[in-house]
Amino acid sequence: MDKFVILGATSEIAQQVQRILTSKGKRLLLVGRSAEKLEIVAADLRVRGATEVITFKADLADVSQHSQVMGFVLQRFPDFECVLLAYGTMQDQEECRHSVEMSLQEWQSNFVSAAGLLTLFADILETRRCGCIAAITSVAGDRGRSSNYVYGAAKGALSLFLQGLRGRLHESSVRVLTIKPGPVRTPMTAGLRQDRVFADPVSVARDICRALENDSKEILYTPWYWRYVMAVVKLIPEVVFKRLSI
Ligand SMILES: NC(=O)c1ccc[n+]([C@@H]2O[C@H](COP(=O)([O-])OP(=O)(O)OC[C@H]3O[C@@H](n4cnc5c(N)ncnc54)[C@H](OP(=O)(O)O)[C@@H]3O)[C@@H](O)[C@H]2O)c1
Repeated sequence: MDKFVILGATSEIAQQVQRILTSKGKRLLLVGRSAEKLEIVAADLRVRGATEVITFKADLADVSQHSQVMGFVLQRFPDFECVLLAYGTMQDQEECRHSVEMSLQEWQSNFVSAAGLLTLFADILETRRCGCIAAITSVAGDRGRSSNYVYGAAKGALSLFLQGLRGRLHESSVRVLTIKPGPVRTPMTAGLRQDRVFADPVSVARDICRALENDSKEILYTPWYWRYVMAVVKLIPEVVFKRLSI
């Protein structure tokens, strides 16, 4: 794959992925909600020798802007081969538990808009019968925890959506890659106590790029041990799990 569309290109994890892709000579279309941040990210990639970097500003949580995003992609980057969805939000989860408005915002940015956008990309790639759709969800979507189930519900829904999409696109040879990081040291988690369990975004990005290159990879846990941690977590009986304050 040579041409990548990155949705949420100013994310720390996405920026690290973009640096690796740039070092491999890949071409990038970066989409983000801040024109200023996008220009800083694009300039950094150009200094690193990027072959091609195009930017487009859009508030991706706003579904009414999606047709403009697709219009730009089809006009300026029509032969893209891969789309990586990286944007997301994690507001104060304690506050979200008591606020319908904040919860709706979390679901809009982490699931509703993401599923909407990927539906548009899926239709294009399905017609072409090739390409890859990759999206960053989270281990938080594997099991509802009392401390972050508002965010987790959106990520869980996104993982389920991707699973179904994979089944739909299998016949068309379009790959769907679900990316499930554990906690990572990025601006999103800056307000949390970032202990040793938090991974380095550079190593997470390396895992993501390896998975993008591996045609048979469908679900990536990163770092790798989260696959086993979550397998155990999912086995804990509900009667016990509900008593754990995690
Ligand atoms: N960090 C973790 O522990 C962790 C763990 C599992 C999964 N993830 C997921 O990994 C992805 C990347 O997050 P990150 O850790 O790299 O955090 P981050 O640096 O805070 O990135 C989040 C990005 O989402 C962008 N964004 C939010 N709402 C948007 C909107 N409406 N339109 C366009 N862009 C929007 C933000 O844009 P601005 O730069 O303009 O604010 C920011 O660039 C997210 O989907 C996150 O849920 C993170």
